[in-house]
Amino acid sequence: MSAPHREIILGVGGGIAAYKACDLLRRLQDRSFAVTVVPTPSSLNFVGKATWEALSGRQVTTEVFDAVDQVRHVSLARKAEAIVIAPATADLIARIAAGRADDLLTNVVLASSSPILIVPAMHPAMWFNKATQANVETLRSRGIDVMEPAEGALTSGDVGRGRFPETSEIVSRFITSTLRDQDLAGMKVLVTAGGTREAIDPVRFIGNRSTGIQGVALAEAALSRGADVSLIIANSELASHPAITRFDVSSVDEMFSQLKSSFLETNFLFMAAAVSDARPTLTSERKLKKEDFSRIDLVQNPDILASISSTKSQQVIVAFAAETDGDIISQALSKLANKGADLIYLNSVANGAIFGSATTSGFILDSSGVIDTVTEVSKDSLAHLLINHAISTRNKLG
Ligand code: CTP
Repeated sequence: MSAPHREIILGVGGGIAAYKACDLLRRLQDRSFAVTVVPTPSSLNFVGKATWEALSGRQVTTEVFDAVDQVRHVSLARKAEAIVIAPATADLIARIAAGRADDLLTNVVLASSSPILIVPAMHPAMWFNKATQANVETLRSRGIDVMEPAEGALTSGDVGRGRFPETSEIVSRFITSTLRDQDLAGMKVLVTAGGTREAIDPVRFIGNRSTGIQGVALAEAALSRGADVSLIIANSELASHPAITRFDVSSVDEMFSQLKSSFLETNFLFMAAAVSDARPTLTSERKLKKEDFSRIDLVQNPDILASISSTKSQQVIVAFAAETDGDIISQALSKLANKGADLIYLNSVANGAIFGSATTSGFILDSSGVIDTVTEVSKDSLAHLLINHAISTRNKLG
């Protein structure tokens, strides 16, 4: 099984070391990263756009206004699993620390929730300047990894700390500090996704607005971290990576029987599917006429998560809840307990905000209460975050 290429961004600041970033780009590509280069406008004085386009094989822009229809800063930020900015000048570091967004790169950084590695390169006097040091401290306190520049001879003829580190050092720091490793290698991950449908007659059904985006994001995130992934997906046209074992289902019954045959051998279950709570008592063989619609009698569906979790041994189970009103935290805690899950992701779907949307906000809870608050992140980032929590739950359970 080959993992999918991992999308990353190489941000390039306006320093002489920009030419060394050409080699960095090549070495990242050698590691199978799919790299989009986002240079700052001033960096083009050192290495031009044509060079980056030729080396990356991708279109390169520096300004937010270059392709407005694509909202590039947001789409780039969402797509990238991690960002490396090399070289970063004192000015670029200052702009990122201040939360400025005056070119495409700083916009992408602001819009992204992915891990970031910054590789500074500048004259030692600028590096050791209190303003730069304070900015670096600010960035580190926000979880951004800032490398120390290397010591040695500088373009100015001076010697000191400020050199661009060796490319191999940057690549290995990037992999260890910003990218999730193959931490699910040897693990089986089962994900349910989409929304089940219960037939009323051959053309009508009871369904829900779930699209399957979050479940597919989870399956692909787990795959990229080395897991053997199965996806039980209801009524979704979304494509999934060919290395994922996919079962397309429609009704709760179909989902339940596939869940039963896959659950025992899995290590992690992510129950992202929106499961219909009820089905018609009878499904008509023929298309009903309007006069038949004065009422539809319903019967409750089984809670398939509660039922499967009663057979649980070592599996870590992550449930999902979507609530619109009331005390949503205690509702989620009751669901966690009633369904025998280890973790639950609660998203607030007031005003239908979540369905079909690329971002999500909510809370991750375990039996002790909220353990993480999630604000406007991409569904891919949420997927990785949930996997991180699920792995640490498994480690705690021993
Ligand atoms: N779930 C399930 N079987 C059901 C209903 C829900 O396995 N019949 C799972 C969902 O996949 C999800 C979790 O339970 O992981 C919570 O789903 P939700 O619809 O919020 O729970 P319900 O028990 O249906 O609660 P509510 O009465 O609020 O709809």
